[in-house]
Amino acid sequence: PSDMLIDSFGRLHTYLRISLTERCNLRCQYCMPAEGVELTPSSQLLSQSEIVSLANLFVTSGVNKIRLTGGEPTIRKDIEDICLQLSNLKGLKTLAMTTNGITLARKLPKLKEFGLNSINISLDTLVPAKFEFLTRRRGHEKVLESINAAVDLGYNPVKVNCVVMRGVNDDEICDFVELTRSRPINVRFIEFMPFDGNVWNVKKLVPYYEMLDKVVAKYQGLQRIQDHPSETAKNYRIDGHHGTVSFITSMTEHFCAGCNRLRLLADGNFKVCLFGPSEVSLRDPLRAGAEEDELREIISAAVHSLLLMIPWSKERKLHMLECSTLQKLQIGR
Ligand code: GTP
Ligand code: 5AD
Ligand code: SF4
Repeated sequence: PSDMLIDSFGRLHTYLRISLTERCNLRCQYCMPAEGVELTPSSQLLSQSEIVSLANLFVTSGVNKIRLTGGEPTIRKDIEDICLQLSNLKGLKTLAMTTNGITLARKLPKLKEFGLNSINISLDTLVPAKFEFLTRRRGHEKVLESINAAVDLGYNPVKVNCVVMRGVNDDEICDFVELTRSRPINVRFIEFMPFDGNVWNVKKLVPYYEMLDKVVAKYQGLQRIQDHPSETAKNYRIDGHHGTVSFITSMTEHFCAGCNRLRLLADGNFKVCLFGPSEVSLRDPLRAGAEEDELREIISAAVHSLLLMIPWSKERKLHMLECSTLQKLQIGR
C-alpha cells in the first residue's frame, strides 16, 4: 500500500463504495421523483472490465472493503460476474452490497457463491400498504423474502436499513426491533436526511435520542457495543436478542472524523466525500489509455485535495444550524 489513500487529515481510506447503476426498480419518495432520475447514457457508464480495473487499483493501494450500491445494484445484468471478479481481487477482505431486496432472493445464492460476503437490505416499513406508498411500487413481500433468504444463507448479520420519518414509520420502531429477537439481523435506524428536491422536509427527521428513547421504553438490558472507529452506526445489543440494533446519526452527530470511504460513481466519477461537491472522472483517462501510475496520481490528488473541503464542512454545519428543528435539538449534544 502507498500513501495514495491517506488524506490530509491522516485518514487512511480503506473502504470503496461503487455505484453500479443510477437505475432503480423502486421510487422511494425520499430518494427519487416519481418519474425517476435522469440517466447517463449507457455508453458513458463504466463497463464491467473498467469497474474491475479501477477496483484493482484501489485494492492494490490499501482498500480492503468494497460495497456495491446504486441506484439498485442488482439491476445490472452482469452483477454476478462483477461479484466474481471483484471477490477475486487479492487483498479484498469484504465484498458487500446495499440493495432494496426486490430481486435479491433469487440472485443471492449465486452472488454468495461468487464472493458477496456482506449484505445490507433497505426496508422502511413492515406494513405492505405503506411500502407501496413510500416506494411507489409493489414488492414488500419480496423484500421480506430476501431478508429471510439472506439469513438462511448464513449472512450474519443481515443488516436492515430503515430510514425513520416522523409521522410515517416512527410508530414501527419497536416492530423493527422485533426482527432482531431470534434472528441474526442488525436493524439500523437511519436519521432521515432531507436533500434538495426530496419531497420530505426536516420536520420528518426523528433524531437518534428520540428513537433510542422509544427502544429503551420497551426493552430491558440495552447495551452499547463498542464501535469500530470508522463505523457510521452506533450499535446496541438487547438482552436475549440474537440480533442487534443500531442508529445512523447522519444528521445529529457527524461521523466525518472517522470516515474512511471513497466513492466511485456509475459514470466513472470519483468522489472522496458524500457531501463534497468535487468529482473527478477516472473513466475519461482510463478510456484515453492512461497508465496505472497516471490514474493513481489522479486518485491521490483527489484524496489529498480534501483540504479544500474543510470550508465546505463548516458551511454544511452552518446550513444545519439554520434549520429550526436542528436548532431546537442543539446538535452536537
Ligand atoms: P456498512 O459498511 O455496513 O457500515 O454500510 P453503510 O452503513 O456505510 O452503508 P449503507 O449503504 O447501508 O448506508 C446506510 C446509511 O448510511 C445510508 O443512509 C447512507 O446514506 C449513510 N451513509 C453511508 N455512507 C455515508 C457517509 O459517508 N456519510 C454520511 N453522512 N452518511 C453515509
Ligand atoms: N436519508 C437517509 N437515508 C437515505 N437513504 C436514501 N435516501 C436517504 C435519505 N434521504 C438510504 C436508503 C438505503 C441507503 C443506501 O441510503 O434507504 O438504505
Ligand atoms: Fe432510492 Fe434505494 Fe429507494 Fe431505489 S431503493 S429509490 S435507490 S432509496
